[in-house]
Amino acid sequence: MASAESPIPRERVELGRSLFFDPRLTIDGNMSCSSCHQPAFYGTDAHPKSIGVQQRPHPRNAPTVLNAGALNIIHWRGDRDSLEDQVAKAATSPITSGQPDEKAVIDRLSRVTGYAPLFAAAFPREPQPAIVQNIAQAISAYERTLLTPSLFDAYLSGNQEAMPPAARAGLAKFINTGCVACHNGVGVGGGMYQKFGVVEDYWKATGSDPIDKGRADVTKDPADLYVLSGLDPKTDLDTNDVRDLRLLLSKGGKLLLLDNGTVSPILFPEYVRGSLVATEGDISNMDVPESPVFDGLAPLDLRYFNNDKREVPTVCKVALKVRQDDHVVLLAKHVRIHGYLSGGMTERAQRMEKIQGETVVQVDDHDQGRALLSTLLLEKGTVDPVAGKLLANMIELLMH
Ligand code: HEC
Ligand code: HEC
Repeated sequence: MASAESPIPRERVELGRSLFFDPRLTIDGNMSCSSCHQPAFYGTDAHPKSIGVQQRPHPRNAPTVLNAGALNIIHWRGDRDSLEDQVAKAATSPITSGQPDEKAVIDRLSRVTGYAPLFAAAFPREPQPAIVQNIAQAISAYERTLLTPSLFDAYLSGNQEAMPPAARAGLAKFINTGCVACHNGVGVGGGMYQKFGVVEDYWKATGSDPIDKGRADVTKDPADLYVLSGLDPKTDLDTNDVRDLRLLLSKGGKLLLLDNGTVSPILFPEYVRGSLVATEGDISNMDVPESPVFDGLAPLDLRYFNNDKREVPTVCKVALKVRQDDHVVLLAKHVRIHGYLSGGMTERAQRMEKIQGETVVQVDDHDQGRALLSTLLLEKGTVDPVAGKLLANMIELLMH
């Protein structure tokens, strides 16, 4: 990376710019980086999915190359290590280049007079500078100059007036709504992986076909997160499913069970004894212990989850009855409030037992995988900032 002490040589950037716009290096000599990353479209091709050489369809769309120098995850699925790695692989990719190997690229390059002196100037200490690795160096050097400072940058550096009032109000909303939970850092985003469709099945909601398994195809990692919501044990869960889910956890998998009360006792009989269902006319209150699930939320934010209007179902219509166990951490409780607890110690304990249960429980499955069992109803996660924040916190807790 460039710095004040070691700036990128101008000659290297110039060479990179020429290569970025040069269509002659690809198989039919008619496609360059700039075909899909066009300046007129702010570094994209404005297509839902890109079309490569010989009309070959690309499975994904082209993100912008503007500010790509600030990225630490390259490609949607993070399957490139750096900008240099991205270019080196693009040079012989069947879709972006079509050239069979690096030699074919270099042969083509050597037939374009004019490049030899540019390579010599950009890599003065190298006797044979025209190699794919240097193409990658040069194009990446050019990409690192494609920075687009904005009014927001001026605002951040202390000039309050740089952004008009509407933009400042938007920024406040962006922060308060919780967008910043994921959109932060130099590029205001692009720095983390998130599962598409946390609240709803993404592929069902969008009707996209074929299904892109995303990063799971790159990592082949069973530790990837599974989110299951509103399962009905009668119709959605047979003994094979139970075995598969437990197997997933035993291999280090992560499981988030949402809106569940009846499934947990079946999946985790050793930890969950059963559940309590809220009844008509109950007033209930969620008790919030010190727990990372509630980070960034104030007790008042949780009013919505505390049902003081005797509505059924409440936002936690079920509470789990959990066994004491080293593998279990209780993250939130739910208490149904019915006046006083009277009587002697035993009587009161029995009464408590009937009105109190857990609404968020962490299960560390023999130090391998981790599951979060939550009975909170978070359907409003996309529109309600508190529900959204709770969901983001749960995912954070599972993944880190
Ligand atoms: C056929 C169209 C096409 C061509 C030609 C092409 N790209 Fe891309 N580019 C894409 C697509 C599509 C993606 C997303 C790929 C993915 O995520 O799987 C992408 C991703 C990238 C990214 C990652 C951006 C990010 O936000 O992660 C960079 C950087 C990039 N291309 C640079 C280049 C360079 C440099 C060249 C020329 C060597 C090039 N591209 C040629 C379509 C193209
Ligand atoms: C749970 C994490 C998360 C939250 C919360 C979130 N986003 Fe995103 N958003 C992402 C991810 C991941 C992407 C795709 C890649 C990237 O840019 O990081 C994305 C992409 C976007 C994009 C497209 C960017 C592009 O380059 O194409 C926009 C616009 C956006 N989000 C706006 C918002 C707004 C506005 C909010 C708040 C209402 C928000 N996001 C909340 C994770 C989140």
